Amino acid sequence: MSIRLRVLFVEDWEDDVLLIVRELRRAGYDVSFRKVDTPEEMRNALSNEEWDIILSDYVMPHFTTAEALNILKETGLDIPFIIVSGAIGEQTAVELMKAGAHDFVMKDSLAKLGPVVQRELRDADTRRERRQAQERLKESEEGYRLLFQSSPNVIAQVDSEGRFLIANMAMIRSLGFSSEKEVIGKTLHDLMPQDVANYRLKMVRKACNEARIQVFEDQRQGRWFQNIFVPIEAPEVGEMTVQIIAMDITEKKKTEEQLERSFVDLAETVSRAMVSRDPYTATHQRNVAELSRLVGKKMGLDENRLKGLYIGGLLHDIGKISIPESLLNKPGQLTEEEWNLVRTHAKRGYEILKDANFPWPVAEMALHHHERLDGSGYPDGLSGDELSLEVRILSACDAAEAMIAYRPYRPAKSIQETIDELESGKGEKYDATVADILLQIIREGKFDFNSCL
Ligand SMILES: [Fe+2]
Ligand SMILES: [Fe+2]
Repeated sequence: MSIRLRVLFVEDWEDDVLLIVRELRRAGYDVSFRKVDTPEEMRNALSNEEWDIILSDYVMPHFTTAEALNILKETGLDIPFIIVSGAIGEQTAVELMKAGAHDFVMKDSLAKLGPVVQRELRDADTRRERRQAQERLKESEEGYRLLFQSSPNVIAQVDSEGRFLIANMAMIRSLGFSSEKEVIGKTLHDLMPQDVANYRLKMVRKACNEARIQVFEDQRQGRWFQNIFVPIEAPEVGEMTVQIIAMDITEKKKTEEQLERSFVDLAETVSRAMVSRDPYTATHQRNVAELSRLVGKKMGLDENRLKGLYIGGLLHDIGKISIPESLLNKPGQLTEEEWNLVRTHAKRGYEILKDANFPWPVAEMALHHHERLDGSGYPDGLSGDELSLEVRILSACDAAEAMIAYRPYRPAKSIQETIDELESGKGEKYDATVADILLQIIREGKFDFNSCL
């Protein structure tokens, strides 16, 4: 199948044109052509029609090849330009190639023209594809740059000294500036309060080895940020750099706090609602919640876990709602059968709480608060590492409070009896660290067991 070829001849001799066309057709091209021999005609042809190739003579009365090359250059079009001429010197050929000609073929060797045209068309295709790829890349880079610059999140790249290499507008504005040149090349210490810069630089240096996430409260602005530090190799900088992305999470934080507050309020409400039916349990839960939080705090638990412990304490005996009131308030000893019924409150509490989707293990705390370290507890006889830290704290606080508090079916133990019981169970029934902290609280009178009565 012949290949369509649109040829613009820059030539004064019609006979030469026909000769070349015949040669091209013999080489397998379906040739259409036009001949121009003045600059105006050439400009006109280039602006009104599309061409695959330009074949130009060298010697013409009204036109020179150099002029023709200039006209092509002015248009910005990438069309292979081949000189087909009689003998031209080597020096001239080199100069014309430098000026933009792609090749030359002697008129007495026209058999070479077909392969030269084929190669030049292929090269032109390659150049076109490369240009299109570069344009796509440029468009994509511009797209990313737009995305980067218009992001509401603060984004920057710094070196290991905290020097800004890149910063988007959100970052620039957050630093109190309005243009890149005020920020790029400056360090964190140049642009931020020194305490903030110290902290950020420490994070940047750690992040050179491994990505870090940090939640940060900017007390000056009264806002919360989640900062992500990601290491990025930058061969052009010659060292690891770090990308910093800061997201304003103030609203999310407020919503979370509101939700947590609602959980606490709800747990307190439910706990209070038990007062009318079972005042001992309601008071006991409140005491256990406060005591567990105090122990957890002394053990260095974070605020979130302390909140979970507090709620776990407030609701741990909620299963007693299913136990007959007459039994809970029965004066005197309970029979073995009655005890077995009372013991079901742990599982019943778990059943009530398990679908509540608390962000803390509240249902698990209710289920296991009567488990003991040595496996002697109920309902599952868990032991050792099977007891979570929350359960270890809650179970010891529950036991201590229950000993000190009065119950209709048995008298309250004295402080000394409670201390003796905790001492003897320390490391056996109760976690040793938890028991030590509890003993210290009780001995020093730091918890008022009657405060909720
Ligand atoms: Fe209980
Ligand atoms: Fe309890």
